[in-house]
Amino acid sequence: MFVGLDLGTSGLKAILIGEDQTVLAEATSSLDVQRPHPGWSEQDPATWISSAERAFEALAAKHSLKDVRGIGLSGQMHGAVLIDSDDNVLRPAILWNDTRSHAEAAKMDADPKWRSISGNIVFPGFTAPKLDWLRKNDPEIFERTAMVLLPKDYLRFWLTGDTVSEMSDAAGTSWLDTGRRDWSDDLLNDIEMSRDQMPSLVEGTSASGTLRSVLASQWGMSGEVIVAGGGGDNAASAVGVGVVRPGTGFISLGTSGVLFAATDSYRPDPETSVHTFCHAIPETWHQMGVILAAADSLNWFAKACGSKPEDLTIDLGDLSAPGRTLFLPYLGGERTPHNDVETRASFIGVAHETDQRSLTKSVIEGVTHAFKDCHLALAATGTSYDKLIAIGGGSQSDYWLEAIATSLNIPIEVPVAGDFGAAFGAARLAIMATTGAGPDIAKPPKSSKTIDPNAMLTEAFSDAHDRYQSTYTALKGLS
Ligand code: XUL
Repeated sequence: MFVGLDLGTSGLKAILIGEDQTVLAEATSSLDVQRPHPGWSEQDPATWISSAERAFEALAAKHSLKDVRGIGLSGQMHGAVLIDSDDNVLRPAILWNDTRSHAEAAKMDADPKWRSISGNIVFPGFTAPKLDWLRKNDPEIFERTAMVLLPKDYLRFWLTGDTVSEMSDAAGTSWLDTGRRDWSDDLLNDIEMSRDQMPSLVEGTSASGTLRSVLASQWGMSGEVIVAGGGGDNAASAVGVGVVRPGTGFISLGTSGVLFAATDSYRPDPETSVHTFCHAIPETWHQMGVILAAADSLNWFAKACGSKPEDLTIDLGDLSAPGRTLFLPYLGGERTPHNDVETRASFIGVAHETDQRSLTKSVIEGVTHAFKDCHLALAATGTSYDKLIAIGGGSQSDYWLEAIATSLNIPIEVPVAGDFGAAFGAARLAIMATTGAGPDIAKPPKSSKTIDPNAMLTEAFSDAHDRYQSTYTALKGLS
């Protein structure tokens, strides 16, 4: 048996699978985000540990964990957990959607070596600019930082006692030489850091350590339990849905939105705001476009209406052409394609007759247009796919998937009911690390249905997307 653990932003999920990949038990535990100042987003790493403990205990209550042989880890990327020389956490973790370090990111990004070595724009959400912000704004903490860990790697530290990361998450720090799959001393030194402050690196499919015996006995595990490298949440999700070969891709409608494609070579193209990271599979890379508020936009709108997302979308009816009301989903700025932390969300074209239903429809359309931007950005790098697999909470809405299929003009496959997300992918990586199995065990899930583009509406969506792009340009700087 194998456990996959996914440390998300709003909750932690644990999944127990058998040797044949059948899901035997699942447990989740929710997490809160602290926003002490505008643009800040933090979590206390101690809450991750208590969440993981609760999740393991809940799994153990549902199914014996005696035969667990491996654990795989996945998690929210880019966060900075700062540890001192006595292994204490120095401050709350600064998360992926925290934009306080935008000035530092812009300065680093202006020096061509960052893009050329890391293969990516230095986005404010990435890890390196966060450390540069601390260097300037909290030099005492910066000086005391003996180790920087990514969120899931902090859980690994607790599980195994080892400070280890893996390639897919490391690529999101800005300090990785993504083509060579190794830390760049040059980039680390650029902000007065060194390799000693970074975890060692393994591939996602390799062992990173073994579970501490005190935890193994607490959860009733009998033998040695390998902890696999695992992957950043998007790379692990890709393994969960079998996106491990070039030409395959998925779309994730989670808190953030991701359009992800696997590639067999390193083809960075930072000018497009596309992210080029190592995959969790050796000798494989991936590209993705990331939007910061996908399902989060609908969650925000539902909360503002005192409602729930599923109650808002229930009476949308059949897909129809985008209306006059247009929503730009930039609640916390945007990554692909704008790399703009200052911009904010807007509704335009609101009239007397605009009601909750039409606002909901425009929120869904706005996020759809943002995905179209990512699709165009990926296409500009030469990356293509002939269908996408849908995952994430928002993919429960056929209306939303049909809007996206129509806007991108690509069929979208909906997996059969089940969980094929990051926790499942992490459990698959645990199988690979423990048994030596190859990526072929990461098969795509059975599809329950394919949502095809609605040919009657492709032009209307294309026109609306043009208007969406012009609106961003017109409002840039005003919102
Ligand atoms: C990817 C990204 C998000 C986080 C959130 O670059 O920032 O997908 O990993 O989970």
